[in-house]
Formats: sequence, C-alpha cells, structure tokens
Amino acid sequence: MVVKLMGMSFEKGYVRGLRDVAACETKISFVDPYGALYYSGYDIDRLIGRVCFEEVVFLLINGKLPNRKELENIKAELNSEMKIPSRIIKKCANKKGHPMENLRTAISSLSEYDTAFEDSYESGNKKLALRLIAQVPTIVAGLYRVRKNKGIIRPKKDYGFAENFLFMFRGKLADKEEIEALDRFMILHADHGLNASTFAARVTASTLSDVYSAVVSAIGTLRGRLHGGAGERVMNMLLDVDNPEEVEAYIQGMLFDGKKIMGFGHRIYKKEDPRSRHLRKISKSLCLRIDRTDLYKKARAIQSVVHKERKIFPNVDFYASLVLNALGIPKVFFTPFFASSRIVGWTAHILEQYADAVLIRPTSNYRGAYGTKFVPIDKR
Ligand code: COA
Repeated sequence: MVVKLMGMSFEKGYVRGLRDVAACETKISFVDPYGALYYSGYDIDRLIGRVCFEEVVFLLINGKLPNRKELENIKAELNSEMKIPSRIIKKCANKKGHPMENLRTAISSLSEYDTAFEDSYESGNKKLALRLIAQVPTIVAGLYRVRKNKGIIRPKKDYGFAENFLFMFRGKLADKEEIEALDRFMILHADHGLNASTFAARVTASTLSDVYSAVVSAIGTLRGRLHGGAGERVMNMLLDVDNPEEVEAYIQGMLFDGKKIMGFGHRIYKKEDPRSRHLRKISKSLCLRIDRTDLYKKARAIQSVVHKERKIFPNVDFYASLVLNALGIPKVFFTPFFASSRIVGWTAHILEQYADAVLIRPTSNYRGAYGTKFVPIDKR
C-alpha cells in the first residue's frame, strides 16, 4: 500500500536486490554476462598463463600492467610487507570461531597497531592497500597454524607471493605445479565487478571511513553462503555423494526439497563463468596428481545434472573447492583463501571510491504503519 503524506508520495523506484542497478562507475573490472571477465581492459583468458599474481595486483591497483622494473619493485614491496607481529595472529586464532571470524578480528586488530594510518589515511592509502594485500595471506596461514597448535612460519625473502602463501600455510616447500595452481587461483579471484563484498567495501569507504574498516565490511559480506561461503559447502556436497552414479538422485532430491546447489548460478553470467573454465582444468590435473579423480568425476556429474535440470552453470566456487582441496587446504579455510585474493579487488575499489568522493546512500520505500497510537509501557 502506498500512503500519501500531506498529498505527497515519497515512493521511489524500487529494484529488489538492486538487480541490474549500476551503483558506481569503475575502470577496475567488467563482468560480461556472456561469459568473459576483463581486468582493466584485459580479458582474463589472455592473462592466465602469461602473468603472475603480482602483475595482476599492479594492474588492478594502477590500471596498467607493470614493466620489468615496476614488477620487481612491487614484488619487493609485497614481500617486505608480508610480516606481521605473531601476537596479533595468536590473539585472533580462536578455534571455536570460523577462520573468517578470526580473519575479520585480525584485520580490525591490525589497525590498532598501525598508529600512522589515522594521519595518513588519505595520502597513504595506496601504500596501505599494498600492505593489506601482502598481509592477509600471512594472517590466514598463521591462523591455520595456531589453530592446529603449530608454529607460525615467516615468509621467505626470495619466494614469489603464491609460493610464500603455500609455504607459510603448510610449512613445506611447494612444487612448481602447486605454486602455479595457487597463483592462477589467486588471479582468478582477484576482482569481479561490483559483487556483494566489494559493494560493502565501497559503501564503507564512501563515508570516508578508513581502509581497514572497509575491508572488515567486505570480509563479513564474503563469508555468506550466497557469496564466498559457498566453496566450503561445495566440498561438503562432493564428500556427501558416494560416487558419480549417485549424483543424479542426490541432486534431484536437493532440488525437489527446494535447496540451492552450492557453487552454481550467478547474478550476472548467463553463460558459463569464465573463471570456472580455468579452475576446472586446474582441478582436473591436481585431482589426478593426488589420486582423487573420483572427486573430479563427481564434480563433472554434478555439473551435468544441474545444467540438465536448471540450465545453470558452475560459478567460481565450484571447481575452486577442488583446487584448494587438492592443495591440502582444509575446507574451513576455502573462504579465507578467497579473501586473500579478493583483497586486491577490495582495496582497488576502495581507492577508486575515495577518488569519486560520493556518499553511497540509497533510500527505501516505507511499508510500515503511520500515526500509530502511543501506549505507555505499563499498558502494553
Ligand atoms: N541451485 C538451484 N537453483 C538455483 C541456483 C542454485 N545454485 N541458483 C539459482 N537458482 C535458481 C533459483 O532458484 C531461481 O529459480 P526460480 O526463478 O524458479 O525461483 C533462479 O535460478 C534465479 O535464482 P536467484 O537466486 O534469483 O538468482 P540470484 O541472481 O539472486 O542469485 C546466486 C545468484 C549466486 C546467489 C544464486 O545462484 C545462488 O544462491 N547460488 C548458490 C550459492 C553460490 O554458489 N554462491 C556463490 C556465488 S559466486
């Protein structure tokens, strides 16, 4: 019911879930509904296999690919910023909480130790963005190790970014294929238009709040199972189905019960998510390596049944969960690995939002009552 107050209607055009509403202008990335993703103009299909994660960090933050000198510099800067005080990690690694809760708390704690940021948060934001990109994987690896009663491992000076991440997490040297797999995983998760967590980060940044607060908003949003939290549940499903022959009945049962299949569907893509194509290939060879082709076969069977029943495609989380599982990452850490990559997109968007300097503040159409009679508390 639309009520007019003093003859005036305050109704505004309402779009449920802001579907297809453009809430900002960006040069960082473009999600093409027909199955392509562009980072600062480059199709990710052209980037994968040709650039490393550090190049993508430079690209998304600066809007251009680095030359050799710039790449060397950003690698050195990221490497030198990776270390953080162990006490921050230790105090946040509460085993009773989910690692995403631990991560959210750790980022909040980091700001308490960064005494300079309040004064420099406008001029020093790009530097802070790079520091956070460097530190999130260190925190994630440290949280895992403390939760497992293992010692925190410091990053190595001569290691690449993905290599260091795996090393700090697992405590052993990774081989070339594993490093390449994580590097590509991180590139593919680095940014994705105005997804829900990026939007949350931009809303916080639009109030001219600080970078840490904007990243904390994003982490809380990514955690939800309709967003980055889906990956963990994909793994539950893959382990719950005993073999590929069971898939058809399993999926039909879930759909009959009105449940959503995790790792499928997308707000924007009408065709297959291009990130899923790359992750599928990577997951195939990693599953073979660890002798778990059964998992890959189940995943393929699920893809085919879900497509037959609902005409929807896997999104980034579906094959990403197989990739992380094959790299030995426990499923509760899937979303923190996603966050360790998406921190690039979040910070790039936060910087872009500061530059735009506009408050994001939509309105709502009121559907409650008007003129309700007040009743004193002892008469209610
Ligand atoms: N399983 C089963 N059906 C699905 C589905 C899924 N994963 N994703 C979408 N659908 C169906 C919906 O039930 C709906 O059907 P209806 O029109 O008959 O009601 C239709 O497709 C549209 O879905 P909707 O939820 O409105 O799309 P959305 O744009 O709001 O949501 C997602 C997009 C990603 C939230 C949604 O696809 C989803 O919940 N996927 C599972 C969670 C997931 O993998 N999240 C990670 C995203 S990267």
